[in-house]
Amino acid sequence: MSDEQVGVVDATGQQTNGSGDGRPQTVTITDNRTGESIELPIEEGTLRATALRQMKTNPDDFGLMTYDPAYLNTASCRSAITYIDGAAGVLQHRGYPIEQLCEHSSYLEVAYLLVHGELPNNDQLATWTHEITMHTFVHENLKEFLEGFRYDAHPMGMLLATVGALSTFYPDSKNIGDPEERRMAAIRLIAKMPTLAAFAYRHSQGMPYVYPDNDLDYAGNFMGMLFKMTETKYEPDPRLAKALDTLFILHADHEQNCSTAAVRAVGSSQVDPYSAVAAGVAALYGPLHGGANEAVLQMLARIGGTDRVPDFLNGVKNGKERLMGFGHRVYKNYDPRARIIKKHVDEVLEVTGGGGNPLLDVAVELEKRALDDEYFTSRKLYPNVDFYSGLIYEALGIPRAMFTVIFAIPRTSGWIAQWLEMLDDPETKIARPRQIYTGHRDRDLTADLRALGR
Ligand code: SDX
Repeated sequence: MSDEQVGVVDATGQQTNGSGDGRPQTVTITDNRTGESIELPIEEGTLRATALRQMKTNPDDFGLMTYDPAYLNTASCRSAITYIDGAAGVLQHRGYPIEQLCEHSSYLEVAYLLVHGELPNNDQLATWTHEITMHTFVHENLKEFLEGFRYDAHPMGMLLATVGALSTFYPDSKNIGDPEERRMAAIRLIAKMPTLAAFAYRHSQGMPYVYPDNDLDYAGNFMGMLFKMTETKYEPDPRLAKALDTLFILHADHEQNCSTAAVRAVGSSQVDPYSAVAAGVAALYGPLHGGANEAVLQMLARIGGTDRVPDFLNGVKNGKERLMGFGHRVYKNYDPRARIIKKHVDEVLEVTGGGGNPLLDVAVELEKRALDDEYFTSRKLYPNVDFYSGLIYEALGIPRAMFTVIFAIPRTSGWIAQWLEMLDDPETKIARPRQIYTGHRDRDLTADLRALGR
């Protein structure tokens, strides 16, 4: 690899291009147990972990491993889909800044960009939109499957189950080496997620299911499947549909987050894509990940009023509370998505007449005080994508239990794009981490059973 390609990581943790005074782009590690040294190439800001296996104390030694719980400092793959600069608060999809995509693109266009790598021309976008529109229906058996859930079943649990169940309706999707099977799985998953999500919502409300309406766009159709009642034709407010479509863009992909890492790990076993995406739904469900948007609203409601914000923040500082919707593994600055969502909150509240939502007042006061408090700024705790999104969903009349389901809908295009990229990566092997064993060794079972009097 030529010098200009080899990256080094500068003091802020950002990869630089490695150019400079001609120093070798390598590290030399000396094993003081043996006095032996090895020189390892720095490849795009990383060292090959397997290279450390050369460091042995004797020929039978397995060699050194790296130990990195939660992969805090481990690159698991090479990807060209999403770039994040956590220090600068930059998010780009296939090189396009998120701000430009929100301003000029639709969610389906961004989904195409993520999956195919380039923007579609008019014909490609029309074909993509048509194919997704034509695959929004789900097999009728899935309605009976949903009937098995209690009325108060959490919609994320229902979505997790129904996405996994899709694999049983498309057994040929197991042929992941077939480009057409991959293409159809991408279209079916992006198309059917809103339908499964809306069906889960209607089941929880004891309402009849609403079938997709092909005359509506992606976000408007989802709103229709959620909210259509006795009217013959559901007409979504275009301003609300646009706000929801923008939220879909903001949630589409986010490099190797917990749920994407789950999709890649499960997909590496060469299981079908529906099962791999179901693993992503399961990971997103957690309150530290996609479940945070629901947890934020519960937190704001528990705080109850702006006057109680100082007490709550004291509770966070003494470890009794967690400031949901704040903090991020990568962003050590304001999450650019939160900044964009915050702009839409006022607009949606105005359209829906939800203006003066007391929870918004609490959220604004919470943010203001936290950003002015050294405890939070010193820990680089800033609002993330989940801090304001729930306020918009609530203003749209969507119940809190549905918030993470709504996160899962657009993230499906990111999961699919990452799954496809993994399949095409020549370095992909089944994910199987090692461990540091801390347990007993070579115990005598019969002696211990005797000692137990057995
Ligand atoms: C998403 O990865 C992605 O890209 C995810 C996502 C995506 O698009 O896929 O962006 C979506 O999941 C956004 C994050 C939503 N989660 C929340 O809002 C839950 C609240 N935030 C966290 O629990 C936390 O900030 C995480 C999980 C988001 C990040 O956790 P890390 O990187 O493991 O950081 P950490 O838990 O080790 O915290 C570092 C320090 C700790 O303090 P010390 O022990 O060092 O004193 O910061 C503190 C933490 O206690 N801290 C918080 C906090 N987040 C971190 N303290 C109070 N409130 C918080 N929210």
